[in-house]
Amino acid sequence: MKKILIIDDEVNVALLLSKFLARNGFDVTTASNGSIGLEYLKNGDFNLVLCDFRLEDTDGREMLRNIKSQYPKTGVIIITGYSDIKMAVELIKMGAYDYITKPLYPDEILNTINKAIETHYALVEAKNEPEIQEKTSRDVRRQNFNGEFVVGASRPSRELLRQIELVAPTNYSVIITGESGTGKESVAKNIHLSSPRYNQPFIAMDCGSLTKELAASEFFGHEKGSFTGALYTKIGHFEMANGGTLFLDEVGNLSYEIQAALLRTVQERKVKRIGSTKEISLDVRIIIATNENLLDAIQKGRFREDLYHRFNEFSIYIPPLRERGGDIMLLADHFLKIANQELGRNVTSFSPEVIECFMNYRWQGNIREMKNVVRRATLLTEGNEITMKALPLEISNYKMPVYDYAYQPAEPVEAKEGRHDLKNAALEAEYETILKVLREVNFNKTKAAEILNIDRKTLYNKMKAINVK
Ligand SMILES: Nc1ncnc2c1ncn2[C@@H]1O[C@H](COP(=O)(O)OP(=O)(O)OP(=O)(O)O)[C@@H](O)[C@H]1O
Ligand SMILES: [Mg+2]
Repeated sequence: MKKILIIDDEVNVALLLSKFLARNGFDVTTASNGSIGLEYLKNGDFNLVLCDFRLEDTDGREMLRNIKSQYPKTGVIIITGYSDIKMAVELIKMGAYDYITKPLYPDEILNTINKAIETHYALVEAKNEPEIQEKTSRDVRRQNFNGEFVVGASRPSRELLRQIELVAPTNYSVIITGESGTGKESVAKNIHLSSPRYNQPFIAMDCGSLTKELAASEFFGHEKGSFTGALYTKIGHFEMANGGTLFLDEVGNLSYEIQAALLRTVQERKVKRIGSTKEISLDVRIIIATNENLLDAIQKGRFREDLYHRFNEFSIYIPPLRERGGDIMLLADHFLKIANQELGRNVTSFSPEVIECFMNYRWQGNIREMKNVVRRATLLTEGNEITMKALPLEISNYKMPVYDYAYQPAEPVEAKEGRHDLKNAALEAEYETILKVLREVNFNKTKAAEILNIDRKTLYNKMKAINVK
């Protein structure tokens, strides 16, 4: 008899499912959370795990990772509350056999389970060593980079990591937006290193500093003698990135002609060096970053809409540091460690006043500003604790703006019920963000809409929905 483990914290669902599967000839065990599930897995030799994506103590991705590494012969099917093709791609790339969405239909479940049990063994047996080795070396590279990349504890940070993991295994183009210094390039690199292209080139190109004349040859390269001054053959960035990832920074600055040439290259997946007739096939994943609002630029006729849609297969917004309170001291500690290494110091902590100050400061230059502030403070500190004296005046003198708290909205009723509903979680997060931004800009709706990257009308509707006038 095939053994199935159901991990779901909704007791009713688990019970119904287990009865149904038992009636269909399976030996079923149920666990009400992830850790109980892992305990059962230690003792039982399960053929298959049906795991709910949202668990009270962990999530389906973590469970999948655990089960795959410890029990590679056990198949995993993830159950989720909503259908999301990108997540499906990710889970399957991570090794899930399949993915089913709620509501659960008995026939569909049975079908999926039977197929999984039939084919999973064949797949496991056929898995060859090199593939496993490749995975290990990717994990190691990723970990090394993760040494530099602080994931952070705030909700936006965890969400950011989720999105990176979601999109990395695909070939989607990605647009990364966020204020200056929020880590757009770091996120792009993280995506590259977490993707199957990790051992191919990652080429970063700063489009902001390209002159009109040189842009084309930087992108596409040129043949020797193709124009005055072309003394050597030059390989363009597309060609350099072939097989890997091309990261285009400040893409909003490109001229319209270059945008047209880019669109052609991306669409045809071929590049021709200037002065050459030979076409070179390309396999390049593109990630772009911008701290200007490209939709605005499109409206003003400065950015091509068709190019935007080409790039926008997936988009990631990195919130400013001031909205990632939970990350501030994690990052500060990380940069302190680096500064100690660089400067040969042994500064071990921040004084309580400094911590308070860091938590309240606006960090307009975001993570980059924090890195510089901590480095400077480490250099100026003689003892082992960073005190207010070591901070630049604009930080130590910074006063938090006074907000108008009269606008506390009514309790969001829907968000209180059904805590495990992703839609509600998203609503709750949205509501918190809107309120936070509104307070920051003193309820100036034009500014708030701009920061939130939505139009005023949408903002009005959302404010109405959450009872803020
Ligand atoms: N999550 C992170 N953990 C640790 N360091 C980070 C993280 N994100 C960014 N940094 C560091 O912060 C600095 C700024 O990051 P990055 O250059 O990626 O930002 P950016 O958004 O591309 O900035 P800009 O808009 O100015 O180009 C870099 O030194 C980078 O190493
Ligand atoms: Mg950058």
